[in-house]
This record gives sequence, structure tokens and C-alpha cells, in this order.
Amino acid sequence: MSNQSWNVTQGKAYEEAAAYITARTSLKPEIGLILGSGLGVLGDHLTDVTTIAYEQIPHFPVSTVEGHAGELLIGRLSGRPVVMMKGRFHMYEGYGPELTSFPVRVMRELGVTKLVVTNAAGGINTSYEPGDLMLISDHINLTGRNPLIGPNEQRFGDRFPDMSEAYSRRLRTLAHETARENGFELREGVYIGVLGPSYETPAEIRMMRILGADAVGMSTVAEVIAARHCKIEVLGISCISNMASGILDQPLSHTEVIETTERVKSRFLRLVSEVVPKL
Ligand code: HPA
Repeated sequence: MSNQSWNVTQGKAYEEAAAYITARTSLKPEIGLILGSGLGVLGDHLTDVTTIAYEQIPHFPVSTVEGHAGELLIGRLSGRPVVMMKGRFHMYEGYGPELTSFPVRVMRELGVTKLVVTNAAGGINTSYEPGDLMLISDHINLTGRNPLIGPNEQRFGDRFPDMSEAYSRRLRTLAHETARENGFELREGVYIGVLGPSYETPAEIRMMRILGADAVGMSTVAEVIAARHCKIEVLGISCISNMASGILDQPLSHTEVIETTERVKSRFLRLVSEVVPKL
């Protein structure tokens, strides 16, 4: 990593971004949400909403992927004040891990103590089916990158943060209960994070299965590392948008990912909007 990228994320960048946002809303969000590919629809369910385009926020990166809107929303979800990222930053876009997780620290500055991260992921566990929702029980960071590399920002957290319960057991229990109340079950498994943007080869997927992964995706791990560093409690939800490479005799496509998330949207919406007031 270059010194230049450290400069971007150090100093007053987080405070300046947070101050810009705070000046535009009277809400004090304690819950953050990061919405993955095709899941931005949750933003339509906010009330008292303030929408800010990423490019307006000082120091914020801008997302470039189809299906990712690039807006920060502050509003109420089921009555609770939340801050929501519609669209996130991926390392395959060329951002370093410290930039992909930049918004997490801005959320911390806003007062966020709980984070719901969602993503689309490929199913590695062969008992899964496209359309399943999986609570992330743990992750494997296969990106070879870490957002905390560089001088430690002690005001956010310790040099060597604990990752032994990266995805809160308490929040997972609440999510399972919420799904059951709505008549469906959630999977629970290990998410393995890769850089992308190429999908995996069948040999890579076989390796990941041996390593203990249930689903694979190109986001989330850097954000969650940054969140745990500053003691934010995390609930992670993967939408299994496709079976991972080599499981079915068909190529993978981003179109399939978007189509599947469209299909499970209503369950996903119910789950998140009903779990948020319980967090
Ligand atoms: N691999 C990696 N990332 C993904 C996939 C996949 O199969 N599906 C959705 N995101």
C-alpha cells in the first residue's frame, strides 16, 4: 500500500465525511446497513429519509458497478434511525481495503454500534439452493488484504483486534427467530471473501469447500474487519444468488446474480425490516 492511500483515510477525513452527513439530518442512527447487489430496494422502505449521493460526501469513494446505486440514506426503518449504504465499494474496482471500509468508520463517527451487512454470494455448500438466505457465522479472508494495515488509528480500536466472534451470535439468534416468525428458515455458514472480479474456477471452489467455506463473494470481509476493530456488532446476511463455479454445468453471470436477488427480495425485506427494531 502506498503512503498516499494512508493519507486519504487518516487525519480528518472520517470526521469531515461524518460532519457533512450530520448537517443534513436530525436523525442519530445507531444502526448501519450495507446493501449488496440487487438488495438496495430496502431503501424504498425508509421513512423521514435523507438521500446523499456518494460523490457529494467529502472523501467518499464512488461505486461503479451495475446494480449498485451509490447513495447514502439516513432515515427510519421500522421506526429505528438507520444509515444505509445503497451500493458499496469493492476491491475489484481498484479501491484498497481501507477505502472499501471507509464508510464503516464514518458510520462509527455518526454513532453506529450495530451493522447489518448484506451481499450476494455463490453457494459452495451443495445443500444450498439459489434464493437461500444465509446468516454469516464467520468468514475467511482470502483477499490477502486487510483494511487495518498501516499506522493503527487507536481512537477506533486496538492494533490487534479480536475476531473470535466477528458475526454476533446474539444477532444471529434474533435473525433466526425473525425468519421463523415469518415462516421460513435461514441457512448459517462461513463466507469466504475473494478479490474478484473474475468468478472462481471449479478447482478454486473445491479448495474453498475443503477450507470450510459455505459461500463465496467479493465483498464484506474488509468492512467487517473495520467494524470489529471499532467494536461494532455485526449481522451478516448472504443471499445465495447462484451455485458457485463447477457445481452446476453452466457458466456464472452477473445477470443471474441480479435475477435471483430480485426473486428473494420480499423475504429479505421482511427479514431485515423486522430484525432491525430488535437489534
Ligand atoms: N463468486 C463470487 N462472488 C459472487 C458469486 C460467486 O459465485 N455470486 C455472487 N457473488
